[in-house]
Amino acid sequence: MDSRITARALSVALGGWRTREPAYEALADGIRLLCLDNRLAPRTTLPAERELAAALGLSRATIAAAYRSLRGTGHVESLRGSGTVTLPLGRRAFARSHVADDDIDLQQASPAAWPGLAGVISEVAQDAAALVARAGYDVVGNPALRAAIADRYTARGIPTAPDEVIVTTGAQSAIHLLAATLVRRGERVLIETPTYPHAAEALRGAGARLVGVPVDTATGWDLDRAVQAFERTRPVAAYLMPTFQNPTGRSMTALDQDVVLHAAARAGTVLIIDETTAELDIETTAGGAREVAAFRDPHAEVIHIGSLGKTVWGGLRVGWIRADADVIRRLVAARAPRDLGTPEFEQQVATRLLARMPEILAQRSDLLRVGRDALVRGLHAHLPEWGVPAPAGGVALWAELDAPLSSALVMAVRAEGLYLSPGARFAVDGGHDRRLRLPFTAPPEQLRRAVEILADAWPRVRSAAPTAVTEFVDAVI
Ligand SMILES: Cc1ncc(COP(=O)(O)O)c(C=O)c1O
Repeated sequence: MDSRITARALSVALGGWRTREPAYEALADGIRLLCLDNRLAPRTTLPAERELAAALGLSRATIAAAYRSLRGTGHVESLRGSGTVTLPLGRRAFARSHVADDDIDLQQASPAAWPGLAGVISEVAQDAAALVARAGYDVVGNPALRAAIADRYTARGIPTAPDEVIVTTGAQSAIHLLAATLVRRGERVLIETPTYPHAAEALRGAGARLVGVPVDTATGWDLDRAVQAFERTRPVAAYLMPTFQNPTGRSMTALDQDVVLHAAARAGTVLIIDETTAELDIETTAGGAREVAAFRDPHAEVIHIGSLGKTVWGGLRVGWIRADADVIRRLVAARAPRDLGTPEFEQQVATRLLARMPEILAQRSDLLRVGRDALVRGLHAHLPEWGVPAPAGGVALWAELDAPLSSALVMAVRAEGLYLSPGARFAVDGGHDRRLRLPFTAPPEQLRRAVEILADAWPRVRSAAPTAVTEFVDAVI
């Protein structure tokens, strides 16, 4: 289906696009980046030149020149009667967007598989005959796996029975299923900004109007804004990552959690708590993973999402939802049209993995600590002008650049074989152009090389920017 983007929405998505001269090339770069990371889907009609010129405060000739540049690189085509339309990445553009073997891809924050996984897979394969004797279609989840998941919640202080658990195809399908089931078109959903972009996309896809609540690496959640947003907009749901939030790495304090739980209870908002990264505690070593807070209140409706995607391996595609049995029944009923269940084999593997979580989490903690420390040390040494937090857990750090040129930097390092997502990718309604998410899930030698590439490109990107950009930023830092 073809879609269009309004001039206002495009100008929000572009954020601080004015990263170099001439302006039309900077604008074309901004639109190219939106195409490359899929924030502008193929076959999206761009705004008419006059409308975009008005929204961005530019001349129509500048917009025409930007569209011409985009036509030249195969990113759009202009058709009489249908305007300027983005194209699926052509062969040339695709070759450039395709990550080669010796490139460094930090667009996803996904650690290598837990080293014991191959052994567990082999064990399960020994029982293949018994496995294939099962019916196969299972939209609720394997009973032993649901029981094991329920037991882990109970151990954390959230008493849970197996019928309060549904197994999903990763946390992403859990988010999608909840969005499709709980949200009706036009309803408001509260969400952190920055946030995990595919959650925002799933909620928007269900028709939600997103209400962003800021989270900052230094100061955490803006709770005044959150409480006001609950009171004023009475959101149907709130999607939050209270422990090792992606991308900031921040965790809510017990007091923060209380404030959110009470505000949600008063507003009648369902809290969707995504704990995909919550067990990735870097500071606690050797099997002593810190307990993840329960995030519960007798007066608030709370739904938890979990996954083995980051703790074990993204390729396993096993996640789950914990909710009241009534909600689980609604989810099961809604699931079939889009997905007939999680594969049996992976569920068997997951059941065995859950019995080994202390050992698995200790390995993750070591792996992520090595990555985080290599990244933080490299950034301090080579880019001392950046603000570099050292999160206590999670998968990434949310660096603060000394100019709002995150997108320009991402474009520049792409040419050097380093793939990253700009800060704006994690924004809910624009902004974060001074931020760059840097996952520390890759091996340390790759992270050190990534820092060298960034440090080499940054002075060039900064000096190519119009002085108004860097001066303004220097003034507000
Ligand atoms: C916060 C968060 N939720 C959900 C997901 C998706 O997880 P899964 O691989 O289990 O679908 C991710 C993956 O990056 C994530 O960071």
